[in-house]
Amino acid sequence: MALSKINPTKLSSWKKLVEQFNKENNHHINDFFKEENNRLENFSISWSNFYLDFSKNRLSNNTFKLLTNLCEETNLKNNIDQYFNGAIINETESRAVLHTALRSSGNDEVDKTLNKIINISDEINNAKRSGYSGKRITDVVNIGIGGSHLGPEMVTEALAYYSKGIKPHFISNIDPDFTSKLLKDLNPETTLFIIVSKTFTTIETLENANKVRAWFIDNASESAIKDHFIAISNNTEAPKKFGVSQDNILSIPEWVGGRFSLWGSVGLIISIVIGSENFKDFLKGAHEMDVHFKNSPFEKNIPVVLALISIWYNNFFKCETEAVLPYSQSLTKLSDYLQQASMESNGKSVDRSGKKINYETGSIVWGSTGTNAQHAFFQLMHQGTKIIPSDFIAFKKSLYGDSNQHKILNSNFLAQTNALMTGKLASGNDVHKNIDGNKPSTSIVINKLDPSSLGSLIAMYENKIFTIGSILNVFSFDQWGVELGKSIAKEILLGNDDALDKSTKKIREQLKD
Ligand code: F6P
Repeated sequence: MALSKINPTKLSSWKKLVEQFNKENNHHINDFFKEENNRLENFSISWSNFYLDFSKNRLSNNTFKLLTNLCEETNLKNNIDQYFNGAIINETESRAVLHTALRSSGNDEVDKTLNKIINISDEINNAKRSGYSGKRITDVVNIGIGGSHLGPEMVTEALAYYSKGIKPHFISNIDPDFTSKLLKDLNPETTLFIIVSKTFTTIETLENANKVRAWFIDNASESAIKDHFIAISNNTEAPKKFGVSQDNILSIPEWVGGRFSLWGSVGLIISIVIGSENFKDFLKGAHEMDVHFKNSPFEKNIPVVLALISIWYNNFFKCETEAVLPYSQSLTKLSDYLQQASMESNGKSVDRSGKKINYETGSIVWGSTGTNAQHAFFQLMHQGTKIIPSDFIAFKKSLYGDSNQHKILNSNFLAQTNALMTGKLASGNDVHKNIDGNKPSTSIVINKLDPSSLGSLIAMYENKIFTIGSILNVFSFDQWGVELGKSIAKEILLGNDDALDKSTKKIREQLKD
């Protein structure tokens, strides 16, 4: 079985949405509140430790009903079942998409790898596994890029409060200065390196791994590599050739896409840093969100609702971007992570039947943390000409218990969503000081930033991404566009520039030393 192949724009719900948009696109959200009884009840969802309020959107009850009809007409329920049941839904690569299985039990391969992750992280944290000279491991360096980097870095930073003490570092870019600078501060006796690459062919990762290996041999010895290098890959031979011992190679199943891989072996650094018990909670939180996604009716289904809001703004209001604004400095890297998860997935312009698409697919995702963002780009959100749909994320509790300062943080969160929606007429009607309001936002309130809630939050966005791809009829799990640049870079390195355009050839000359 495969995913449905339905052009959404041909459906009656879509056509009605076009009419509905023409009727209400200038309507003020304030007026929706006046006109619609029960708006808050209809446009909010309480689930586990989450509270979603999507009432501050330019969305009437009628529009919302039509959007849920769109889910029915595109066979979303059946598509979700295909996804979780392991159907070959990544058709262009003939693969199933089963990262969700990494966070639910019952698969031998998954359980085996999880046990390995738990053992390695417990041994390191209990100092049973030490460096070649017998000293305790103090630092772990993840060498990987894209999906082999962004998730682990975002999560270890977000959950630093739960750290067991090992310091995480990340080498992703092929910028030699960055790697050299980091190595200067590391002690080979107490540092563990994890090379993460599903393919083990990614040039950035291999070059960085070789650079680190040379440094390690210079400062320690070749024979110590077995104690200090772990490889995580779907490639069984290349890590061995690199010198990693068989015991230190963890697999990535073919059915796990790079950008959704942090739940399995790619998450090893997460488990080392926060400890295996917390890592299990992280998986549990994600699994609970999957269960909610699979079983809830569309109108009370958090990932589905977020996807519908995104489609509405992207395709009808023609908003090109959407912002993610967590009011927690711990989530600084969330938007970087979501950029890959979302834009690499739904940045497509050919549909599942192979036809060129004439509507909008993936939006541009960006963001930063509140309150920093308020002092950077919020002016444009309040008074600019663009509409920026945004997710505001807040936590009820502060981690370290400073409830007074946390109150200030959350007052800002509340103030911004309120101001964006209601605006304010300036006294004397000074046009420059008038704030029209009617700027949308969706609020996500979570009890506390902990491993379980972060797992749920990430799974929420993953399932939103799936839903958008499902409805917009694109293949969300391949990334052929990225592959082209990789192969041209290889040719340039080999000195082959016949196929390069004139401008690039000239710039290449300019870059020569
Ligand atoms: O950026 C393209 C990409 O293929 C991602 O999808 C992937 O996460 C990344 O490169 C790294 O790939 P690998 O894990 O094989 O090194």
